[in-house]
Amino acid sequence: MTENSSLIAPTAKRLRFCRLEGKVALITGGASGIGASAARLFVGHGGKVVIADIQDNLGAALCKNIGNQDTISFIHCDVTSDSDVKNVVDSAVAKYGKLDIMFSNAGIEFSPDPRIVALDMEEVKKTFDVNLFGAFLCAKHAARVMIPAKKGSIIFTSSFAAVTSGLAPHAYTVAKYALVGFAKNLCVDLGEHGIRVNCISPAAVFTPMFRKVLGITEKQKAEELISTVAPLKGVVMEPENVAEAALYLGSDESKYMTGQNLVLDGGYSVTNPTFGEVLKKLGS
Ligand SMILES: NC(=O)c1ccc[n+]([C@@H]2O[C@H](COP(=O)([O-])OP(=O)(O)OC[C@H]3O[C@@H](n4cnc5c(N)ncnc54)[C@H](O)[C@@H]3O)[C@@H](O)[C@H]2O)c1
Repeated sequence: MTENSSLIAPTAKRLRFCRLEGKVALITGGASGIGASAARLFVGHGGKVVIADIQDNLGAALCKNIGNQDTISFIHCDVTSDSDVKNVVDSAVAKYGKLDIMFSNAGIEFSPDPRIVALDMEEVKKTFDVNLFGAFLCAKHAARVMIPAKKGSIIFTSSFAAVTSGLAPHAYTVAKYALVGFAKNLCVDLGEHGIRVNCISPAAVFTPMFRKVLGITEKQKAEELISTVAPLKGVVMEPENVAEAALYLGSDESKYMTGQNLVLDGGYSVTNPTFGEVLKKLGS
């Protein structure tokens, strides 16, 4: 190694491994699954993180496991409550000085019966309240503190249910489609303030939500099921991979990306294997 390269190497390493150095992120639904993976990854990349969730014990335990009060903290927040979301945003700014990233990720699962004739309006309202209106509140309060700073990144967790059809019940699907539309409309509203807005649409990932919806508790069995449906073989998506997409969208590496929906589905949404399967059956 030359004298020059030894000087350059640490800088390069720092850029590669501390992609959120100096940034403050708020992650809703951060106590579990995808949000918890994002919290770990963001802190690992030099970010300061506030976890906002309704699972207080889990959130607090996760913070202890990941870092200390200087890098990560938990605040109870129900995303359906305007005052809770206001409080968590203001607390993040009071504690860490600003808010650079709002990862609006909290979500609830759905009942397994997808038929319109089985519709329960209470469930529809609850799904919309958390999965869609919660994101509105997150965007509103994030924008309030990001606009004066003239920068920021807002990220919504949508779903591959929003780039295909018939995968999930209507309320969940419509809420996730709406998030994609919301990100596109909001990026126009907030673009003049230097704030970016994007979505991530993951396919099935083995998290507590997945376990509740499909009733499969064995990781290997779940992953086998997941990997049979996507054209891309030999890999299985983990919650960390969704967190990596959020890391990219939250970092300056995506500084010119806004209004986009990053789909992580192993190619599931670009193909319809039905015709091929029928042909195979005919041939056999
Ligand atoms: N797991 C999947 O297969 C999958 C696929 C596509 C999209 N998603 C989406 O990813 C996001 C994260 O889900 P996950 O799979 O990590 O599930 P998860 O159940 O592990 O995590 C969801 C978190 O949201 C929190 N939450 C629920 N209601 C809340 C509320 N009112 N206020 C604040 N927090 C609340 C929960 O307490 C939980 O910690 C959700 O938006 C989900 O719809 C998941």
